[in-house]
Amino acid sequence: MSGKNAEYEKIWDEVYGHDRDPIRMNVIYPLLEVEFTKLTGKKILDLGCGNGSLIRQIQKYNYKSICGIDQSGEFLKTAKKNIDCRDTKLVQSNILEKLPFENDSFDSVFAIFVINELPLLYNMFCEINRVLAQEGCFYIVMTHPFLLLRNFLFEKFTGKKNEKFIGNLNYKNKKPMKYILSTAEVSTPFFQYTFEDIINVVNNTKMEINKLKEIDTSSDLLKEHLKYQAEKNVPKYLYLKLTKKISVDHKL
Ligand SMILES: C[S@@+](CC[C@H](N)C(=O)[O-])C[C@H]1O[C@@H](n2cnc3c(N)ncnc32)[C@H](O)[C@@H]1O
Repeated sequence: MSGKNAEYEKIWDEVYGHDRDPIRMNVIYPLLEVEFTKLTGKKILDLGCGNGSLIRQIQKYNYKSICGIDQSGEFLKTAKKNIDCRDTKLVQSNILEKLPFENDSFDSVFAIFVINELPLLYNMFCEINRVLAQEGCFYIVMTHPFLLLRNFLFEKFTGKKNEKFIGNLNYKNKKPMKYILSTAEVSTPFFQYTFEDIINVVNNTKMEINKLKEIDTSSDLLKEHLKYQAEKNVPKYLYLKLTKKISVDHKL
């Protein structure tokens, strides 16, 4: 989602806005709930906050403050309508650049379905390391690295064109692809990250993996959503909880 495509942002909001997305509501947020309950007194950063969906969830719990950051003014406008603005601020900024926050400003940083929109991870991870307090946590939910491979194998063995991704479906592809939003003619850039890429960036920025979960769609809460049931044993999303152990020096 580039922030240059108002049509995309409108359609995205129709599909995922106002707590409409079954995956976020029935899989991702229930998985994160145990972490939400530990946010009392914590300062939270939501990277790529979009229309404010995660902020709405966190606001059901106790916390000290929340900051949502996104490059898209359109999304931030929608987010402003969706959330309670007390103790919460929204900042328009590019998360690939130096983040507009002091060192050690946050206790918890979330990036939900953002990583695969970024062409590079190292600088952003260094910035998260900088703005996180010692022992602070970085929570990531992203597309599972094998999803692309699965689509590649589907094309190869059935001869049918995959309709979700446009581009080179190679597992290690580093060129941007297009991810087609369901029900829509519009797309967003998609960057594939393998387990190797993720482990290396975590190590290089001196964070530690505290939890890792390969998320599928087998949750009972998705029983009514037949499209997810049909492929329920496929790992579709990856959840990582990282902890900052050591500060890294870097210049941006
Ligand atoms: C797939 S949406 C997810 C939004 C939200 N986290 C959610 O789960 O609903 C990705 C978000 O990341 C934002 N984004 C992508 N690249 C960005 C960048 N370089 N700087 C700031 N925001 C960015 C997009 O504008 C978009 O809001």
